[in-house]
Amino acid sequence: MCGIIGIASNKPVSINIINSLKKLEYRGYDSAGLATLTDNTINEKKCSGRVEELEKILFKTPSNGNIGIGHVRWATHGIPNLVNAHPHSTDQVSVVHNGIIENSDELKKELEAEGILFKSQTDTEVVTLLITEALKKNNPLNSVFKTLKKLKGSFALGIIFKNFSNIIIGARRGSPLAVGYSKEENYIGSDSYALKSMTNKISYLDDGELCLLTKDEVSFYDANLKKINKKILTMSENDTSTDKGEFKHFMIKEIVEQPDTVRNCIDEYVDSLKKNINIFNFPIEPQKINKIILIGCGTAYNSCLTAKYWFEELTSIDIEIDIASEFRYRKLKFDSNNLYIFVSQSGETADTAAALDICKKNNVKTCSIVNVIESTIARNSDWVLPIHAGIEIGVASTKAFLGQLTVLYILCLKLAFIRKDIDEKTYIKKISNLKKLPEAIKRCIKNDSNVQLMAKEFASAKGSMFLGRGSSFPIALEGALKLKELSYLHAEGYPAGEMKHGPLALIEEGLPVIVIAPKDKYFEKTISNMQEVIARGGKILFITDQKKESLNENIRFGFRVPHIDNLLSPMLLTLPLQMLAYHVALLKNCDVDKPRNLAKSVTVE
Ligand code: G6P
Repeated sequence: MCGIIGIASNKPVSINIINSLKKLEYRGYDSAGLATLTDNTINEKKCSGRVEELEKILFKTPSNGNIGIGHVRWATHGIPNLVNAHPHSTDQVSVVHNGIIENSDELKKELEAEGILFKSQTDTEVVTLLITEALKKNNPLNSVFKTLKKLKGSFALGIIFKNFSNIIIGARRGSPLAVGYSKEENYIGSDSYALKSMTNKISYLDDGELCLLTKDEVSFYDANLKKINKKILTMSENDTSTDKGEFKHFMIKEIVEQPDTVRNCIDEYVDSLKKNINIFNFPIEPQKINKIILIGCGTAYNSCLTAKYWFEELTSIDIEIDIASEFRYRKLKFDSNNLYIFVSQSGETADTAAALDICKKNNVKTCSIVNVIESTIARNSDWVLPIHAGIEIGVASTKAFLGQLTVLYILCLKLAFIRKDIDEKTYIKKISNLKKLPEAIKRCIKNDSNVQLMAKEFASAKGSMFLGRGSSFPIALEGALKLKELSYLHAEGYPAGEMKHGPLALIEEGLPVIVIAPKDKYFEKTISNMQEVIARGGKILFITDQKKESLNENIRFGFRVPHIDNLLSPMLLTLPLQMLAYHVALLKNCDVDKPRNLAKSVTVE
């Protein structure tokens, strides 16, 4: 999950490459680099670390050239250092790559047997050297085509050539690649967001396709190198706010934005006048849906797990959930009456996209719940329900999680009503409760000082536990995930009832344990589980929506969220956990928006 960019222009491109790489940094930030063509020479600049460093290098020694490619890396093959940073070049060709060449070891051995030397530990260098060899007898397009035939795995590639100073070739298998158009300039990029400041006219390569761009035109080719035409899309303008504004980090900005993003989402789907939900064109007639299978990764998986409780509570539909990287390798029995729903903020997660492909191959109906509507997953699914959260930049997902939950809840309500699992009165009541959610979220976010006190308990802790039952269990998982991602502190999310089957052994004097206990049918049970933790010395941080004061000497801090409807509690209970992770990360001086070893869009398996 690296980010790539390529620009063919009639003016120097390095500054725009740097600006685009800054936007692509959410995909990886281990190293950065660019290559431009000046006087028929490939001019490469690279650094380990952030794009900022690359910018400093360029400031001291500017790169000219009207054509160039750039890269931000999330290391797969070879440690993140200068040598392994992209582009990988010979004197003939320069390549940037996102993805994994699975047979690179094999190809490397073959090339080494011919006496060809490698400089880096990357899989990408194989591509560079194969193209260099092929160029001895072929033109650039055929050289790339012949090289692609030898590659196994996934890739998006951007390539420039010393002796063909006006072209960039792009290719895609698995990893996404967008093409942008502008006057006297054309682009390739890992996503449309990277191109946004330069153009809103975009096409997307499909699997196996190639493109050849000059500053004046773009040609597209299919997997057999036959010329094809592509549709040009005009990108939406709804995600314009891409700077931190008054905030120190994107994460806190995105947390604070949640009342608005959830309100936007509700407004998109709920017709307030008619008190109805505007979801139509189901790919399967709702009455005939036999089962819904919800699939996602990371935070998106946690939203699927939360929704499972809603669908079970409100509908007569069977629900299954799965982690995409597991789903794609299971021996499944596909059923045309099942609806397969893919949840993904980016819409580019490799495992989720592969799971979707498997469903398509098995001719079953698919739906995607995404934030990026131009994404691969959205484009490949039969039906798309956008979450309308606007661009999310912090690597740890916050507002997209609440957006996913909101859409899943709305979908669940609509299905329950159409299938007559709930009556009209309940339907209308649930819709009017949902409309109270943005205001309640706002109240939670204001209550930040208690969270700051809680955070202090974690700064010196060895680990922590997050416990909940029912729909609070996935929220415990999400709370623990946020803390791990942001503060590198060990955190386990557990169903509270499972503690006595092992994890209770971890409880020792002073271990911070977050107990998530809304006043639902599990409340008393959760309190009993909490007592078992208290008896063993755990330091309880209690999160609830119940009104009665429940703090005592064993419960160090509490956070009370408003109560609207038991089914909406997961959204509200999430907020103190997001803020907790943020404040612990601040206390531990961690890089909040770009946690170590992670990337926002995981486009490798
Ligand atoms: C990465 C991100 C997570 C995200 C997960 C799934 O791990 O860091 O925040 O939840 O990918 O991403 P998706 O874009 O499919 O929701």
